[in-house]
Amino acid sequence: MSDPITFAKENQGRYLDELKAFLRIPSVSTQPQHDGDTAVAAQWFADALTEAGMENVRLIKTPKHPLVYADWLHAGADAPTVLIYGHYDVQPAEPFDLWETPPFEPTVKDDYLYARGAADDKGQVYIHVKAVEAYLQTNGRLPINVKFIVEGEEESGGASLSAFIPQNKELLAADIALVSDTAILSPNQPAIVYGLRGMCYVLMDLTGPGRDLHSGSFGGGINNPLNVLGHIIAGLKDEQGHVLIPGFYDRVRPLSDEERALLAQLPLDESAWLAETGAPEAWGEPDYTLVERLGARPTLDVHGIIGGYTGPGGKTVLPSTVHAKISMRLVPDQNPAEIRQLFEEYVRSLVPPSIKVTFQSGHGAPASITDYHIPAMQAARVAYKEAFGKEPVLMREGGSIPVVGEFQQHLGIETVLMGFGLPTDKIHAPNERYYLPNFYRGIKTSIRFLAEYGKK
Ligand code: BES
Ligand code: ZN
Repeated sequence: MSDPITFAKENQGRYLDELKAFLRIPSVSTQPQHDGDTAVAAQWFADALTEAGMENVRLIKTPKHPLVYADWLHAGADAPTVLIYGHYDVQPAEPFDLWETPPFEPTVKDDYLYARGAADDKGQVYIHVKAVEAYLQTNGRLPINVKFIVEGEEESGGASLSAFIPQNKELLAADIALVSDTAILSPNQPAIVYGLRGMCYVLMDLTGPGRDLHSGSFGGGINNPLNVLGHIIAGLKDEQGHVLIPGFYDRVRPLSDEERALLAQLPLDESAWLAETGAPEAWGEPDYTLVERLGARPTLDVHGIIGGYTGPGGKTVLPSTVHAKISMRLVPDQNPAEIRQLFEEYVRSLVPPSIKVTFQSGHGAPASITDYHIPAMQAARVAYKEAFGKEPVLMREGGSIPVVGEFQQHLGIETVLMGFGLPTDKIHAPNERYYLPNFYRGIKTSIRFLAEYGKK
């Protein structure tokens, strides 16, 4: 009987075939026409856990998409327990015409696997299924206790899992959570993400007249909500990216000198990073470095504006109602509910009496930060070093994984963010891809992590 790492190496071809099958299921959680597919993906993942040798595998019904749970708890009372989290849902694939190969027909080109969800997150969460399988197939046991909780709503707000966690603390109890849903720095430079930004998403509606009006007959006498929206947006930040909402920065935990020094060491190739974006130059708060601005500073961005006439040619109309979608990425210790309140109060102060404003809240999640000195982080460091031949760097990620803050809050556990994606994976965009050598190195890293954390 071989060891888990050799076993994993010998089975790489099968792993790729299995991952492709998973990626063929269009489990787009936000689109109701894919609800059936999303259910199929949940079942597929549950079956994969069963085949890997996990026990108590079950689909847990929720108001929306099922959760998948499994465990293997025979490592002994002294052994630690790891809770592995991931998501089997994916972002919508639109716009389809910009894909070079169809989003749900996984295609290998050079070292990359192209498909929606390849990196975010199917290809990453599957790493741990295969690591566990390799152990159970070769040793008949795992070095530590393992639980899986995998959701199908991460890309659409995660409401079902948020409600489930506080009600199932016993079931999910663990010493540490392990999540692979982030990127490392570059193909051969692993990174441990110790901080994630949080999120406060707001939808805003502005209404002027009760119906669209002729702008000649009424213009000058009735205010236009689209013009007002422009003023509001212009008042939210200054030209250098500083948010103008009073109180917005009050709870922002200042970066310590130690952390600034740590982030300054991050070997980010800024010109390659800029080239990848296609923008003419980088931008942002002048008092912070690019790395700090990307992970450790809060932002405010407008994601969409709907309003007025957008068809061909001109139309002289004062629109009745216009809409905007705005998010603020938060850092410790900003509170999403409080930020939402400050946002609303400030916007109300900018809206004249001739316009009505209403708000709807979208995603809310606090930022999270993990102490990088804890034993599980050290185990991750050793595991990455062995699999990649290189010491991982520590970095903060600007994206959000809301469940990490919820694990901290309700289960009292920290999360090790052991990512295997790359910044060039184009997640959420056309031609999403996954760097396959790191799929295989990820399996090795996960195997080594289970062993190393077991030694604690
Ligand atoms: N996997 C991403 C988070 C992420 C983004 C990690 C970029 C590393 C780099 C996750 O699936 C995601 O997209 N999260 C959303 C959460 C939001 C909708 C609350 C995000 O960050 O926009
Ligand atoms: Zn993700």
